[in-house]
Amino acid sequence: MWALAFIKDLDYRIVSFYCLPKQMPHSDRLKRYFSSTATVSTWWTENKWHPVLREHFAEQAKYLRSLATWRGKSILDVGTGFGRFASVLTDAGASVCGLDLSQEMLQRAKENGSTRLIAGDAENLPVASKSFDAAICLETLMHVPCPLAAVRELARVVRPGGLVVIGINNTFSLPFLVQNLQIHTACYRWIRNRKRMSHTNTIWEARRWIRDAGFQLVDELGIGLLHPEVRISLWPGKIVNPLPHSWSSWCLTVEKGRRLERTKFRYFMKAILFAARTPI
Ligand SMILES: C[S@@+](CC[C@H](N)C(=O)[O-])C[C@H]1O[C@@H](n2cnc3c(N)ncnc32)[C@H](O)[C@@H]1O
Repeated sequence: MWALAFIKDLDYRIVSFYCLPKQMPHSDRLKRYFSSTATVSTWWTENKWHPVLREHFAEQAKYLRSLATWRGKSILDVGTGFGRFASVLTDAGASVCGLDLSQEMLQRAKENGSTRLIAGDAENLPVASKSFDAAICLETLMHVPCPLAAVRELARVVRPGGLVVIGINNTFSLPFLVQNLQIHTACYRWIRNRKRMSHTNTIWEARRWIRDAGFQLVDELGIGLLHPEVRISLWPGKIVNPLPHSWSSWCLTVEKGRRLERTKFRYFMKAILFAARTPI
């Protein structure tokens, strides 16, 4: 099983890091990356080969459900991907419109039951101002070249008093500290950095985007203190995770049992979710 998961994972890595033309503009590379068959079919799918990602998603979904009464609300899901957060909100009674850069992702979202879908860029939403009650942008800002522009767009399209939920990959979490440490070595740059498709951010950066976009921060929550996805690049095409996936449930159980998500420990968690409101 582990070997199969590894091969599937390798497949998307090869496409993402080695097969895209070097000279392509970053926005085109992003689009190509998120449209490639390997990315669409293998990446972060909620299947049994990816227990870590599945549980990480389940935690985020639980948080999302707990934040508001979604029934009857119109919501924009920016970077909808396969529409997994869209279906969480639809199940809670909301009317969700999914937006994504990639037509292939939108097709997958449609197959998964999303009915309202639009193609577009998070930094320049093709949506009228104040047209949604709420917006979410989860597991996406780390791919957007200018997250502040995207957060400003969320502020524009949500009605006064509306809720916005965004997520970041935290620079100071274990997996990303390891990754960033490698990135800042010449060897790692040689291996894969020239084609990176995502970045990490700090809690302070995200708070600044929220403030600069005119939001009021309502809540901040961390997920994944002991997140076991620590990937180490050895040579091109060879990336290992030294920690077994079976740690995932145990780690999350410990963290949840001790209710660490809103304590200072959140500064070291893998994902930070922010809930904010536009002023009335
Ligand atoms: C990691 S996936 C997350 C998808 C979904 N939010 C989820 O968690 O299942 C990131 C998604 O964001 C989309 N994306 C990346 N950059 C984008 C941008 N600038 N504008 C809109 N969508 C973007 C990708 O096509 C991809 O579907």
